[in-house]
Amino acid sequence: MPAPNIDTIVSLAKRRGFVFPSSEIYGGLGSAWDYGPLGVELSNNIKQSWWRWLVYERDDIEGIDSSIILNRLVWKYSGHEATFHDPLVDCRECKFRMRADKIEGKCTNCGSANLTEPRNFNMMFRTLLGAAAEEDDPAALAYLRPETAQGIFINFLNVQTTMRRKLPFGIAQIGKSFRNEITPGNFILRTREFEQMEMEYFVRPDAEHLKMVDEWVELYLGWFKSLGIGGENLQLHEVPAGELAHYSKRTVDIMYRYFPERAEEERQWEELMGIAYRTDFDLRSHSSKATDAEGNRANPDSTDDLSYFDEPTKQRFYPHVIEPAAGVNRTVLAVLMDAYSERTNDKGETRVILKLSPQLAPIKAAILPLAKNKPEIVGMAKAIKRSLQPVLRAVYDDTGGIGKLYARQDEIGTPLCVTVDHQSLEDEAVTVRDRDTWEQERVKVTELAEYLQRRLKAASPVPPLVDTPSLEI
Ligand code: GAP
Repeated sequence: MPAPNIDTIVSLAKRRGFVFPSSEIYGGLGSAWDYGPLGVELSNNIKQSWWRWLVYERDDIEGIDSSIILNRLVWKYSGHEATFHDPLVDCRECKFRMRADKIEGKCTNCGSANLTEPRNFNMMFRTLLGAAAEEDDPAALAYLRPETAQGIFINFLNVQTTMRRKLPFGIAQIGKSFRNEITPGNFILRTREFEQMEMEYFVRPDAEHLKMVDEWVELYLGWFKSLGIGGENLQLHEVPAGELAHYSKRTVDIMYRYFPERAEEERQWEELMGIAYRTDFDLRSHSSKATDAEGNRANPDSTDDLSYFDEPTKQRFYPHVIEPAAGVNRTVLAVLMDAYSERTNDKGETRVILKLSPQLAPIKAAILPLAKNKPEIVGMAKAIKRSLQPVLRAVYDDTGGIGKLYARQDEIGTPLCVTVDHQSLEDEAVTVRDRDTWEQERVKVTELAEYLQRRLKAASPVPPLVDTPSLEI
């Protein structure tokens, strides 16, 4: 049973320290959110899962971390200065501002049809570089990146030559991106500052690009399922030709059911990520030697040519790109919604249980003393916490009765609780309680670390692996 709506997660996230409204003490800042102690752990665990899956377990992908502010020319030649905009309209009655392509001719605030003509609004955030920069000084103008991808393209040659890579290979990056969205909203689904996990996979011009999009879609479906997201809440959307981004020949979006409460099935879905075939558009656009249709140099500003020399065929060409681009925040939200469940205890009380996959759970084991006024029990529980910490994320908690402590850990998704009781002082054993079944098992303290690790591993699904060519035995 996933969460019935996003609001349920907003309230759980705030109550339990996952995500807080940003700048709240000053009245907030339109759709900005801060990750709290548990949210930052969850988000880090998702990013680590992605990095391990692509950069460590495959043998054909390198990672980088490029700057957020790049030379403005990057955005000129990527096409973002000219085309990265949304159509904007104002309501003449109530002055509300909205995206023209998301409404049906009526103001979403007051319902009036008295709207201005749509005009293009560039979504890149502007900033000025340098201490002496004047307002409107074009020489000082720079942008916060609206996608992490361009930092990968401009480093293509650096990575390829230093890491001695041959096609096909990929470059992965995780980082913040910024878009001045006209209508941000729905919690962390659409914000102006967000985080992306992008990978550019460089292939030969004669590769089967459209088929490769399908292959990456399948791999990502497998990865999302390994995070605990149910297949019934994932769906594919082939982006129609007229709606493709300026660089794309084909894009398939993986959609998540973020709005299960909506009556019409087709309105329940929103994009979780996109997988695009970007052709050789970006490497060619940033290259000093590439020519346009008339044979003129297309980029007189670039000092380097991002082409690739293929040794076996002795050909030089611009590699083509398949790009799986996912959002960290949207993945966090999908994982939280899918993990949400409720259960009634034997007193008839409804309890929230967050059935997070153990690999994503912010805390793997909570060590709880049954009596906090008994120094021997407290001492033993604290010693167990300390001994576990090197192998897994554990916390010690004595801030309530045992029932309350269990309930709190269930609600934040801690897979296992370890209780130290009076008997533990005699038999050097503890009770391990399972979040999902509430079943309990007695385990010797000397065997506890290994036992917990085994249980956590057994309950964490593995993402789909690919045998990359250089690893074939
Ligand atoms: N480089 C290609 C690219 O950026 P995109 O579809 O515009 O493609 C990729 O963005 C992913 O980034 C989206 O699928 C979504 O998960 C995330 N994303 C984009 N805009 C976002 C926003 N305003 N708030 C939160 N996540 C966003």
